[in-house]
Amino acid sequence: MSTPRHFLTLLDFTPAELEQIIQRAIALKAQHRAGEAQRPFAGKVLAMVFEKSSTRTRVSFEAGMAQLGGHALFLSPRDSQLGRGEPVEDSARVISSMVDIVMIRTFGHDIVERFAAHSSVPVINGLTDDYHPCQLLADIQTYVEHRGSIGGKVVTWVGDGNNMAQSYINAARQFDFELRIACPEGYEPNAELLAANAGRVSLLRDPREAAAGADLLVTDVWASMGQEEEQAARARAFAPYCIDAELMSHAASDALYMHCLPAHRGEEISAQLMDAADSVIWDEAENRLHAQKALLEALLLAAQ
Ligand code: CP
Ligand code: NVA
Repeated sequence: MSTPRHFLTLLDFTPAELEQIIQRAIALKAQHRAGEAQRPFAGKVLAMVFEKSSTRTRVSFEAGMAQLGGHALFLSPRDSQLGRGEPVEDSARVISSMVDIVMIRTFGHDIVERFAAHSSVPVINGLTDDYHPCQLLADIQTYVEHRGSIGGKVVTWVGDGNNMAQSYINAARQFDFELRIACPEGYEPNAELLAANAGRVSLLRDPREAAAGADLLVTDVWASMGQEEEQAARARAFAPYCIDAELMSHAASDALYMHCLPAHRGEEISAQLMDAADSVIWDEAENRLHAQKALLEALLLAAQ
């Protein structure tokens, strides 16, 4: 058995391969809108393991696989043996013996690593506590569609140093942009990851300073899945870290803002910006579909 190609973080592909996925996503989107059939994966099956909730990730993978001619099946811990303690390694061996590709959304990043290490087919990280690389494909696609290449641009992350922030650190490296992270003390991204990318990633406390002249501002919820009981303490710590019209006024005049969703209007982002006519947040959400179809293609074609 040859070792399958996985997508656990953005570092699993080269910058050139990531660029190809973005361009392919843009092309697939145009084909889809033109009503052209895209059915290269007849008979192929994607298993989707969700240990956390999801709307976008589930719908985009399930719809995407159907549009490519294949099938997607949903597994949750509630109604599979995953929730009754069957080891990840055993589950990986069994599930991968029956399907062509697997997507997992879970808690510890080590779980997707262990699953991938025992899987005979490609494994996609659909979000862990540490990384959300599929969202970054959609975000970069969205930036490219609206503003062209993100290479050399300034991106400002506002808020928690969470899985999305950490994915932006990897993206800064792979897509060659400057990243400024504005977060309160105690909520920084992983220190080793920051140190490894110190050349292009800086940490600031003042969101206005971080936003000054930036080309893109990005945020996410203050309390991620699994941190619900910290919501009140986090709401106090993060109160100054809201993307609103005032903060955007410090950015470049053509700056975009993004949010992976789901969002809390009036907390990390203002309702006015969420609902603005020129918001690209809805394109960003839709692009999960197109970017992941390009990702599925890249992984399934490499496995053939
Ligand atoms: N952005 C994102 O991954 O959304 P879901 O949690 O709805 O999948
Ligand atoms: N940081 C958020 C992202 C949700 C898509 C979470 O992990 O809950």
